[in-house]
Amino acid sequence: MKKIEHIGIAVKDLEAAEGLYSKLLNTKPYKRETVESERVTTSFFASGPNKIELLHATSSDSPIAKFIEKRGEGIHHIAFAVDDIEAEISRLKDEGFTLIHETPKDGADGKRIAFLHPKSSGGVLVELCADT
Ligand code: CO
Repeated sequence: MKKIEHIGIAVKDLEAAEGLYSKLLNTKPYKRETVESERVTTSFFASGPNKIELLHATSSDSPIAKFIEKRGEGIHHIAFAVDDIEAEISRLKDEGFTLIHETPKDGADGKRIAFLHPKSSGGVLVELCADT
């Protein structure tokens, strides 16, 4: 793991959340992108060297819709940047972590990603994130 790549935040109303985070971070989102496979629209903010990803469900069966139903809006996941995502997946499997994705998939912002199951990582949903 190299560094925290971004923090993902689940939101109910994307326009409202973009307004809120624009005020909070004193900058506008630099990109909006829909990831069809996850049924989510993402909106990205840069805050200095850090990145915040707002996540908005595009349908009621989206993992984000289910998360908000259960736990409300708020921090959804922490993403770590890795160099070699396949090697990191295999290392974490060997360490006993449960992977939601055992092979990387295409994520937002030009990344290849894989999620760890929060049950095996202390209740925190962890995303691995590699440049394509
Ligand atoms: Co993410």
